[in-house]
Amino acid sequence: MISFPRGFLWGAATASYQIEGAVHADGRVPSIWDTFSHTPGMVADGHTGDVACDHYNRYLEDVEIMAELGLKAYRFSIAWPRLADLSFYDRLVDALLDRGIAPVATLYHWDLPQALQDAGGWANRDTAYRFADYAAAAHKRLGDRVTTWTTLNEPWVSAFVGHASGRHAPGVTDPAAAFTAAHHLMLAHGLGVRALRAGGAESVSLTLNLTPILGDDEPARLIDGLANRIFLDPVLRGEYPADVLAHVERFTEVDLDDLPTIAQPIDVLGVNYYTVNRVVADPSSGGNPEYPGSEGIAWEDPRGPVTEMDWEINPAGLEDLLVRLSRDYPGTPLMITENGAAMPDGVADPGRISYLDAHFRAARSAMERGADLRGYFVWSLLDNFEWARGYHKRFGLVRVDYETLERTPRDSARWYREVIARNGLAG
Ligand code: FCB
Repeated sequence: MISFPRGFLWGAATASYQIEGAVHADGRVPSIWDTFSHTPGMVADGHTGDVACDHYNRYLEDVEIMAELGLKAYRFSIAWPRLADLSFYDRLVDALLDRGIAPVATLYHWDLPQALQDAGGWANRDTAYRFADYAAAAHKRLGDRVTTWTTLNEPWVSAFVGHASGRHAPGVTDPAAAFTAAHHLMLAHGLGVRALRAGGAESVSLTLNLTPILGDDEPARLIDGLANRIFLDPVLRGEYPADVLAHVERFTEVDLDDLPTIAQPIDVLGVNYYTVNRVVADPSSGGNPEYPGSEGIAWEDPRGPVTEMDWEINPAGLEDLLVRLSRDYPGTPLMITENGAAMPDGVADPGRISYLDAHFRAARSAMERGADLRGYFVWSLLDNFEWARGYHKRFGLVRVDYETLERTPRDSARWYREVIARNGLAG
């Protein structure tokens, strides 16, 4: 038996736009993802989050499923476009607490109000201040019951997939805007942490998607800078790494006076881990639009088995990442806020079970090697709207039939329930 420490926080994660639907209910205003998904050609088969899993109306059933799984915690996001009426989250949080499930709230999982985008979005510094106001308001409403708060989910994706490659909302393709957005997202995080602390929040965090970059030394170093250190160092050390700053300044100016605000102490770092990237020096390569300035670097195909996203299955990458974080950024407890796999549809999902089993073991080994890991949230509780890939990619422990909206726990859900009950893995 491989066991985890007492109190290890086993959970599952979702995000507002991916599951809620009810996009016109109770005064919700449009977000950049409503606009983007309704723009022809942006999302596979024109899928939108208009209905999604209808979680907004079916949340009680979903909380019931979480209780049956024995989840200790549930990570969800609050939709900024619902700021005018947050009563849905009141009801959700109360239902979770009734079942003994700790609510872990993320304030921004990519659904920026369209009105703020119209004023410049994350390329506009003012959006960071608006985020802090929103954080204060959400905390005021829910902070008596929600103790764990995350400011942003994956600012790398918001900045670079949203503004460099344009594969995600708002669909901008402007490298300078992408670096500016990255900086403003970090500023929003810092201002948000301050606002949450001022309201008395107990535990405040940031979730980053961190991707080990393997391959030739020099390109791997540069891409690691643009993928990982560009957020880790400002937030946890109060500085841009010199190589990253030099690269950013090829495209735009950033205000270094913001760094003390950005580097507010956090209580936990959320880590989203799915896969590794492999890069090689290749003078003929035009680079990757998600990494502006990566001309001369080529991305290699994944090695070995992949998920339905074509992402390499590499649990050792998770172990190394956790060990690296505890070595390079000591003193910040870690939480895996997302890990999971898109697998072929069906209720039998042996591939998902073996993916999770291998990653849980990797996390445990990292803990033995010194990583201070406090919990693990599986992405995702339910199949849901997988952004530009629409409903085709299924990450759920629980299957969703999009015709009937019926939920069916998969084999992986039953397997996960046993893991949680035992607080460990057999053998
Ligand atoms: C992450 C996102 C999450 C989900 C997974 C598969 O980048 O945070 O919403 O889409 O990928």
